[in-house]
Parts: sequence; structure tokens; C-alpha cells
Amino acid sequence: MSKEQLIIFDTTLRDGEQSPGASMTKEEKLRIARQLERMHVNVIEAGFPAASNGDFAAVKAVAEAIKDSTVAALSRAFDKDISRALEAIKPAASGRIHTFLATSPIHMEKKLRMSPDDVIAAAKSAVRFARNGIDDVEFSCEDAGRSELDFLCRVIEAVIKEGATTINIPDTVGYNVPEQFAERIKQLRARIPNSDKVVWSVHCHNDLGLAVANSLAAVMAGARQVECTINGLGERAGNASLEEIVMAVRTRQDIFPCETRIDATQIVPASKMVSSITGFPVQPNKAIVGANAFAHESGIHQDGVLKHRETYEIMRAEDVGWNANKLVLGKLSGRTAFRARLKELGIEVESEQVLNTAFMRFKELADKKHEIFDEDLHALMSDEAVTPENERYRLVSSMFHSETGEVPLARLIISTEGIEKGAEASGSGPVDATFKAIESIVASGSELLLYSVTAITTGTDAQGEVTVRLAKDGRIVNGQGADTDIVVASAKAYIHALNTLSSKKEKLNPQI
Ligand code: KIV
Ligand code: ZN
Repeated sequence: MSKEQLIIFDTTLRDGEQSPGASMTKEEKLRIARQLERMHVNVIEAGFPAASNGDFAAVKAVAEAIKDSTVAALSRAFDKDISRALEAIKPAASGRIHTFLATSPIHMEKKLRMSPDDVIAAAKSAVRFARNGIDDVEFSCEDAGRSELDFLCRVIEAVIKEGATTINIPDTVGYNVPEQFAERIKQLRARIPNSDKVVWSVHCHNDLGLAVANSLAAVMAGARQVECTINGLGERAGNASLEEIVMAVRTRQDIFPCETRIDATQIVPASKMVSSITGFPVQPNKAIVGANAFAHESGIHQDGVLKHRETYEIMRAEDVGWNANKLVLGKLSGRTAFRARLKELGIEVESEQVLNTAFMRFKELADKKHEIFDEDLHALMSDEAVTPENERYRLVSSMFHSETGEVPLARLIISTEGIEKGAEASGSGPVDATFKAIESIVASGSELLLYSVTAITTGTDAQGEVTVRLAKDGRIVNGQGADTDIVVASAKAYIHALNTLSSKKEKLNPQI
């Protein structure tokens, strides 16, 4: 007998984006949304359209592109917000409005300054308004984890009568513990009339490190949707991590009464993509997606795994997308093989021109690095995302000098809208010198918030992938660059961030 489905609602593009510094451009959101669709995520929360024109455009673009997942838009419980969200998801093959209102005493009194009766009236009106525009409406009782049970029952009964189809119980401040949270879900389901007509959802924050445990306890108590994010990204300590929820349910099918439709082999590529776009590194011992998650170091463990894998392994690395870095292409691979592999990886190539330049760069890379892995192709294609249209600055050439006892030096030529200019600078290291040389040409006046380097694959000939985060006039942008020379990768990342800063593309960090 087949089991019930657990709906995986990914909110990396909305709650994940609320992490300070994790804001994304429309193009970045689209890349992640496509990866989530490849993973067969049921619902992708694409953003908060009323927050800004930029987020509206990003949600609309995701709604236009995604066919196999429902695209949700968040909105406060006001008609104006809901109308904006409805407009943004109009092109979606399957769309959802997610509207919310706080229900805890502290939020109602101190933040909303509304009486409990007014909150019920506003919640009902919001759901009624949303249902006039779309059939799929989710209502969230913000801070439900600290709301009074009797009051929650009144609000939820009222919004179900107005046609809400999913009821979400957020532990907004990460205050709950598993047994008590599960009991809350059980009580709500038992006490509210028609509770079996809606999908019960949970949305747990990780302030006490319990987001996944609380979500799973709620699943045991009847929740059939979990809201989560890749790498557990999200406000403050983050949200429940998608990869941990999915793999717990899959690995413990002996106890969970439901299953997901997630293609787990897409988990590691998604984790890498989100980490690279946001510049938030994944800690090495992070479950499922950390670099050490499947590394057996101690002799006893290694011996056990060699004799019989399951002595120390409850999951297989390849099942979650590790070891995908098989050799795919080399120096002699042709354009057709290159195009075919990009297609297999689900990478969209916008035009023949983009394919041609990407192929040229692939050949250059293959000259330096004989084995090209999938990860290299992902990095190469994300560099290609800086198309000529938004490429104001371009690195023309570079020279670095660093020697024991000498001051490191960088000499660069940068083209600004086609006009080349050179500069030379010294610094505490070659990267510092490079950034100073770039600034002496561009004079952006931006502040460097983050600089991080990771090796894309293994081996000393691996490409280094650099993320740079810059802030200027209240805007925060990330730039990425990859190269076998990490100083060149750093220069590319800095220039990528400058191009994003100077483009019209709005990066935003909607706070609710
Ligand atoms: O944490 C929260 O309460 C939220 C809601 C908007 C669902 O993110
Ligand atoms: Zn949240």
C-alpha cells in the first residue's frame, strides 16, 4: 500500500533570503528555482512580491519558468499585498498565495497593536480575498509556537471556513521542543472542525537547534507539509534544513507514515549552488551536505565500512548526490558533447552566443586542468551568467607578484564599458593588492563584507571558487568567480560583485 505524501515546501528563496547578506538577484533565484524543480520539490516559495519591485519581478520570473512545482508568493494579510502576490504568480502553472498574521499575545499586543478579535477578522478577510483570486491558499499563524491554543483554534477554524487549503504552524522564534510541538499539532487537528479537509504544515526556526527535530515530531503528529530550506538557510539561526528532513524520512521509512517525492541525488548540487550564490559556506560536519558527512576517519570505522558498508553508514553518499564529480569531459571533447552534458545537468543556455563563449572558456580550462567535472561546468556556467548586457567591468589581464620578504604586488587592466585602464597596487597579500588595484580604477567606494574561497573539486589543479560580498548605499551584493588561479578567481569575483552593484538588478533582503 502506498504511503501518504509529505509535501516539501522550500522557502530558500524567501525565508532563506532573509538571512543578512543572503539576498539574491532575479537570475540567481531562477537558477536555484530550476534546481529545486529538478529535485522535485512540491512547493517553491519564490519571494515576497509586495516587498519591492525587484522581488515582484523575481517571483514572476520563477512563476513563468517553473512547470513541475507549485510556486508560492508570501503576503501579509492585506488586500494590497495579496493583489501584488496574485499578480506575480499569475503565470504559474500551479500557484499558491501564502498569507500570514501573528497570533501570539506578544505579537498581537506589541507589534500589531490589534485585539484578538481584530486579528480573527483580518485573517478571515485576507483568506477570503485570496480565495477570490486563486484556489490554493495557505494561512500561517505567525508565532504559533507561542500562541494560546484556544485562540489558535478560533483563528484556524475561521480561516478554514473562508477556504484556506493549507494551515501552517510556524515556530517563528524557534522556542518549541519536539514533544510539546507535536502535542500542539495533535491538539489542533483533534479540536478544529474540518481539520481533515486541510493540509497541516509546519515551519520551524532553529534558534535552539531543534528545527528539524520539531518538524519531524510534527510529521509524526499528522503534519503533511514541512517548510524548509537548503542548508537550513534562513532568518537568524535558520530554518529546518531540507536535506535533513528528506533524508530522515527516507532513511527511517520503518517509522515514518509518509514519503516524499524528492530526487535526493539533486541535494548536494543544490547545496553547493545555494552556498556559492549566497556565499554562506557549509560547515564540514553538517549532516548530509557537509564535506565530512560521509568521511570515515577512524581506523575502526574504515575497517568496518570496508568489510560491510552498513556497519557505519546509514545512507549512501551517492544517493544524496556526492561523488557526482565523475570525469565528464576533457580537452578533446567537442561542442556537441559539451552542449549535451550541460543539458543533462539541466543548465539552460540562453543563446548560441552564450554557448560559444562558454565552450571557448571550457577549452581554456581544459588546457589548464585536464579533467573537467560537473562542478567545474556549474562554476563555468555561473560565470557565463555575467552576460555582456550586465558586464560593465571586465578583467582584461592581470599580473601578480609575491615573494618571501617582498611586498605583494598586483598589476591589472580592466575594461570599463569598453575603455581599458591599468593600475598597480601593493597589499598585505596578492588578493589584497588585487582588490586595491581594482578599486583604484573603479572607485566604487563599496565595503568588503565577506571574502571566501573553496576548492570546487579535489586535487591541487582544482578550480578555486571565490565569493565576495560588497555593500554600498544599503545594497548588499555577492559576486562569484572561479579559476585554477585563486587570485584570478578573486579578481573575477570582485568584478562580478561590482557589475551586480552597477546593474539595475535589484538585490533585496525583504524583512517582514
Ligand atoms: O517564521 C515565520 O513565522 C514565517 C512566516 C511568514 C511563515 O516565516
Ligand atoms: Zn520563517
